[in-house]
Amino acid sequence: MGLIAHFSPALPAAAEAPETGPQAPAAASAVTAACATVDNYLLYPDDMLNERIAAARARLGERVIVLGHHYQRDEVVRFADCRGDSLQLARQAAASRAQTIVFCGVHFMAESADILRQPHQRVILPDLQAGCSMADMAEIEQVEIAWEQLERLHLAEEVAPITYINSSAAIKAFCGRRGGLVCTSSNAARALRWAWQRKPRVLFLPDQHLGRNTAHALGVELDRMAVWDPRQDFGGNAWDHLRQSQILLWKGHCSVHARFRPEHVDEVRRRHPGTRVVVHPECPLEVVQKADLAGSTEFIIRQIETAPAGSQWAIGTEVHLVNRLAHEHPRLAIHHLDSAGCPWCSTMYRISPQHLCWVFEELVAGRVVNPVEVASPDREAARMALDRMLEV
Ligand code: 13P
Ligand code: SF4
Repeated sequence: MGLIAHFSPALPAAAEAPETGPQAPAAASAVTAACATVDNYLLYPDDMLNERIAAARARLGERVIVLGHHYQRDEVVRFADCRGDSLQLARQAAASRAQTIVFCGVHFMAESADILRQPHQRVILPDLQAGCSMADMAEIEQVEIAWEQLERLHLAEEVAPITYINSSAAIKAFCGRRGGLVCTSSNAARALRWAWQRKPRVLFLPDQHLGRNTAHALGVELDRMAVWDPRQDFGGNAWDHLRQSQILLWKGHCSVHARFRPEHVDEVRRRHPGTRVVVHPECPLEVVQKADLAGSTEFIIRQIETAPAGSQWAIGTEVHLVNRLAHEHPRLAIHHLDSAGCPWCSTMYRISPQHLCWVFEELVAGRVVNPVEVASPDREAARMALDRMLEV
């Protein structure tokens, strides 16, 4: 992903309503007045800024909505107005009256919120370096080259492109322009069925595992799937393999979920007999096949919320969510699928209490830092792909 500059210059928060809340603590005003970069905030330990964050948040009131993705750490999530997956959060923010959306998540999530927002709203990502390794594995230039190669093989007209929401706005726009759509981990099966009703083949971006797991669950044999490696001509495939494939899986993966192995399922069952294993479909197929259940983050949360008291669960997803579920459901025994590795999303982790404090205090001072804006014409084309998903 081509991330924007390290820290964008502060923009004047021209549309802000006049301040009506209590004064921010003197220490906060001094830091804000002296320095508009995050650097001074990073000198403080995590738990020292809580009062300042809360005070600044209170002054901002309903003009700001703070979104917290499920994988964010607790020190950040505690300040979120809503918790959810990326699409849910973006839609909630767009339906709110807030002028400013502070997205505690990663860059593609802030972009989606910007595409779906109302005209008077704007989106802030507290740390612009919070990217997504999976989204970065499909760059628009690589996808355009892949498409040209499919055109040379006279296959492009038979291909519908689908992108997982975990992708850049440019990739979403690419899919929108070519009659394709966006999907989430909750609706990927519906998106694939929709696409196959229209074209014989799908190019699935950027997560090979979600694409493979979903297509496999819909009955597609593995030999009717091709992996498209963007570093090789024609993705490293022979023409007849592409021709017989129903799905071309972009060679991308999530650095968190791809670390789970089938041996982790065996090991957790050995150590905790009777444990039900639930994993995210960004995990490799062999892990999903060994698990009892696989589904989106929301699906995993639902399983835990409705589980009978005393039941045991091993969860294969990001560690902050697993820890939170264990804490919130003490009536269950919840284990990490990989207790040794505990995979966590290091880019989500970049959103810190220090960044939150900085963003809030800058807003109180009338400045907007780290805005994320998707420019035209990608904005409209990406919106088309998102709207198609919402119709499916
Ligand atoms: P969902 O929350 O849509 O299941 O996606 C998981 C994820 O990897 C978010 O980055
Ligand atoms: Fe990207 Fe995986 Fe992190 Fe989600 S968990 S933001 S897909 S790297």
